[in-house]
Amino acid sequence: MRPFVIKEHSTPGGKINLPGDKSITHRALIISALSRGKTIIKNFPFSGDILATLGALAALGVKISRSNKGVLVRGLPPRGLLGPKKPLFMANSGTTIRLLLGVLAGQDFQTRLVAGKYLSARPMARVNIPLRMMGAQITAKNRGHDEYPPIVISGNRLKGISYRLPVASAQVKGAILLAGLSAEGKTRVIEPVKTRDHTERMLKAFGAKISVNGNSITLNPGKELTSPGEIYIPGDISSAAFFLVLASIIPGSHVTIRSTGLNPGRSGIINALKRMGAKIKIVYSKRKGLPGFEPAGDLIVTGSSLKGTVVSHEKIPALIDELPVFMVAACFAGGRTVIKGAGELRVKETDRINSMLWNLKRMGADIRVFKSRGGEKIVINGKARLKGAKLKSFGDHRTAMSMVVAALAAEGKSEIDDLSCINKSFPGFLTILNTLLEGKLCAYPRKKRGD
Ligand code: S3P
Repeated sequence: MRPFVIKEHSTPGGKINLPGDKSITHRALIISALSRGKTIIKNFPFSGDILATLGALAALGVKISRSNKGVLVRGLPPRGLLGPKKPLFMANSGTTIRLLLGVLAGQDFQTRLVAGKYLSARPMARVNIPLRMMGAQITAKNRGHDEYPPIVISGNRLKGISYRLPVASAQVKGAILLAGLSAEGKTRVIEPVKTRDHTERMLKAFGAKISVNGNSITLNPGKELTSPGEIYIPGDISSAAFFLVLASIIPGSHVTIRSTGLNPGRSGIINALKRMGAKIKIVYSKRKGLPGFEPAGDLIVTGSSLKGTVVSHEKIPALIDELPVFMVAACFAGGRTVIKGAGELRVKETDRINSMLWNLKRMGADIRVFKSRGGEKIVINGKARLKGAKLKSFGDHRTAMSMVVAALAAEGKSEIDDLSCINKSFPGFLTILNTLLEGKLCAYPRKKRGD
């Protein structure tokens, strides 16, 4: 592990395309595997988390190959998955383990799911509880009031449930809906706050009988899913967020991010930055292909001077993964930014409240966290400037990329201990960033003596 050095940099400019959206691709892979026919997934992101889902499906007997058009998945007939010979390795992908638990709940074999270091510390009761209510047998490691991987799941004949989610979670919603595909009777999920609806849209595209009424989603099983043939995955808005913030906080920047996913359940970062005064123009792509599928468009962002804003707790799910880099934006804004109900950040790949406060304080930010009635509240008094410092990724991809953005906009030199975790979601991050900085990105591994 060699630390990266990053120096203050001048204006980012140019046009970029981003790899396909991670959340959508997990669903595309899983639902293609459960459907009749072949599916070609285009703009496929070969990131660590996605390879975890792909590897697990392959171990369950799904044939997946690479073609010149994209990734080809040959769907299996209902109940066609095979019991794996070895435990399935989930790497550190929360979406992989939670969605697959939903799939495995209705299979007639037992599976042991093992996880990497970070995922092994993430709570799983939120998904195990409703799946048990549907009939799955699940054992997991118990610690305190929660459950953690490794998990052993024995599939069963499931029955549909009506379940009100205690925590707003698209992963848990997705798991219940996927389990509902093989359950007897309809399954209903009621969300406290709307979360990303990628599972619902993907199921619809494959012909599932699913309807949405406000915050309530109902799935009627029994209809065999059929592949639409081809799926184009729009660019990942969570990856775009780093460039949106970078270009917004560096004066004179002009960056176009082409064909980015603009699902309303994910666009919170755009809305929040716009409220802060960011100059972001959206050019929606003309709808081609699957009706009702994921909206997408180009984002054109230019440097601006930002002012503080308030993010209320019901807006959190729409920008949960972008909050780390949003905190960076708030540090460069004039005035106070308040992020309410941010507690879920504590149970991501790492405790992202802790990782971001640790780093940003070292750079001189005025950032504090308070316990409040609606959970935890982060308050940032923007200073319009940060200074370079020795930083840590905490093994978390989004903390790492957020700190690269902060370091590029800060005064002086920063050092980040390890950027390899970026591969989890966005292996090409530094390369794409470099194209916006005319190939002059000052991020290089510091040489060790003797190198
Ligand atoms: C995801 C949902 C979110 C998000 C995660 C991906 C998904 O998690 O933080 O990175 O693909 O469904 P929760 O559903 O736990 O909020």
